[in-house]
Amino acid sequence: MTMVKLTPPLGWNSWNTFGANISEELIKQTADCMVESGLRDAGYEYLVIDDCWSLRERDANDRLVADPAKFPNGMKAVADYVHSKGLKFGMYSCAGNLTCAGYPGSFEHEFIDAATFAEWEVDFLKYDYCYHSPIIPGEILYRRMGLALENCGRDILFSACSWGADETHKWIKTTAASMWRSTGDIFDKWDSVKDLTKQQANLLPYNGVGCFNDMDMLIVGMHGKGNVGLSGCSDIQYRTHFSIWAFMGSPLMVGCDIREMSEQTKAVLTNRELLAINQDTACRQPYPIKGIWQDSVTAYAKNLAGGDIAIGLFNLGSEKAVSRFNLDELGLPHSTGKTLKLADIWTGKEANTANASISWELEPFDCAVFRAKVVDRK
Ligand code: GAL
Repeated sequence: MTMVKLTPPLGWNSWNTFGANISEELIKQTADCMVESGLRDAGYEYLVIDDCWSLRERDANDRLVADPAKFPNGMKAVADYVHSKGLKFGMYSCAGNLTCAGYPGSFEHEFIDAATFAEWEVDFLKYDYCYHSPIIPGEILYRRMGLALENCGRDILFSACSWGADETHKWIKTTAASMWRSTGDIFDKWDSVKDLTKQQANLLPYNGVGCFNDMDMLIVGMHGKGNVGLSGCSDIQYRTHFSIWAFMGSPLMVGCDIREMSEQTKAVLTNRELLAINQDTACRQPYPIKGIWQDSVTAYAKNLAGGDIAIGLFNLGSEKAVSRFNLDELGLPHSTGKTLKLADIWTGKEANTANASISWELEPFDCAVFRAKVVDRK
């Protein structure tokens, strides 16, 4: 079986920081930390081991084998530990002959591998797209593993990772995927955040309940350290990155070393109001707001369940920016007698809507996110 997810999945994934340097010890410490830091209670549920967990060869029965140097007690023991902390356990494989890092992939082994994951009590499978057949279309490869998981006897969330290639958006909902990577890999530098944000704009109509656009794991708090660590970002940039991912309804998979995260990083990752926008039950599509601002500003609104409106103003550029738009844009022309009451989630600063418009100054790389209430105009 695969489960139907009603809101974007949240968790942690080993790839961004640790790459091949994964072990039972690391996973246990991370599980402990997800609980102690409050990440679990904020909603981060899945602890996912990415590539490089197996031996280079299958065993005599054609089964995948966990590398005993990294996981001396096998994967079931790791799953048991993760479950004992009230978390769910995720693993990784690939639709090709090999994973991206050259370990055995699940091509032509879909059902046996799904059975193995079920036996290990895995709850989540990230499924990559390297070394795949040039002849068999991706949609068939993903449907195959989707079917294998749905028939493996366990609820395993299927997380597709074909990076948006081969027009993934057109066929991903024919597979059993609950989330799908809509863009290429993230790297720990600001340009990467900018690129992925822009790429996502045209794909927003494909996001929604049951199958979420995955903008890739978060780099919040990496500060240049680790596997995809490049120049790193400032805390303001990380906050804006998190705000965009949360606002756009992406799954949020933490990618930093949470054992060493700063209070600042923790505060960003556990911001209740941003998480509530991300987890809003209506899962409506954010829409771009038209207004007056520098090219570096991108602005979206999202109508939330129950009538509030989330508004996000994101300054992707290195200059201070001023943004202004009319409430008309959000469906509140003067004739309605209504206006908005709103304060920035990050600073608590209230916006003035007296003249039926909102003006806001954005520092370089900064953002403002509001949860606006529709109220009577006095
Ligand atoms: C990439 C994937 C990354 C990571 C990596 C592992 O294809 O997009 O998120 O899983 O492979 O080798």
